[in-house]
Amino acid sequence: MIIAIDGPAASGKGTIARQLASVYGLHHLDTGILYRAVAKAVLDAGRSPDDTAQAIAAAISLDPATFDESALKAQKITEAASVVAAIPEVRQALMNYQREFATRPPGAVLDGRDIGTVIAPGADVKLFVVASPEVRAARRARELAARGEPVDEKDVLADLLRRDERDSRRTAAPFKAAPDAHLLDTTHLSIDAAFRAAVDIIEAVRTGRERR
Ligand code: CDP
Repeated sequence: MIIAIDGPAASGKGTIARQLASVYGLHHLDTGILYRAVAKAVLDAGRSPDDTAQAIAAAISLDPATFDESALKAQKITEAASVVAAIPEVRQALMNYQREFATRPPGAVLDGRDIGTVIAPGADVKLFVVASPEVRAARRARELAARGEPVDEKDVLADLLRRDERDSRRTAAPFKAAPDAHLLDTTHLSIDAAFRAAVDIIEAVRTGRERR
């Protein structure tokens, strides 16, 4: 089974994806980590994230086995990740890895921005996870504070809105819901309730499929 989960920052998609992978015994890939790793390589080389040649070279030579996920979650990498993610050749270079990951037996949950539309358009179940910008900003500010990166919630909200806009407007794999994705709004849901809602959708899809 392949489960594709897309959604904006701090919508809850990563947490839902991890829990689903654990319950269904599937692999899990947070695809944002790939774009963050490209951004970090570019920044570490002292270059700007809009240095296209540098970003493409970093994407081609990326080795996910060496990732330090916690370091890649740092807020200073976030904005740069969305800049390199708009470069079509960067996305192309990361495509095979994601597609191969998706087909690893017994299946996988992938979360990102273009999973249901580009990476795994044939996924068994697609979820599009959303939440209001204010709730997302509050969640992200809490996450960053817990990491020891205290931030102003207003700055976080501005960052989220700027990235939503950049991710949605880019021409390469713009962030949008696949037509057959199931919408899950987590604005008023606890982590547990969001997870249960996701399981309900998956089970409904599976049951519907068995009946056909
Ligand atoms: O949760 P948050 O949005 O802060 O981070 P993320 O999911 O790690 O994504 C960081 C950036 O990577 C996003 O703003 C997108 O620009 C990009 N991204 C993408 O373009 N496609 C994906 N499948 C995943 C992330």
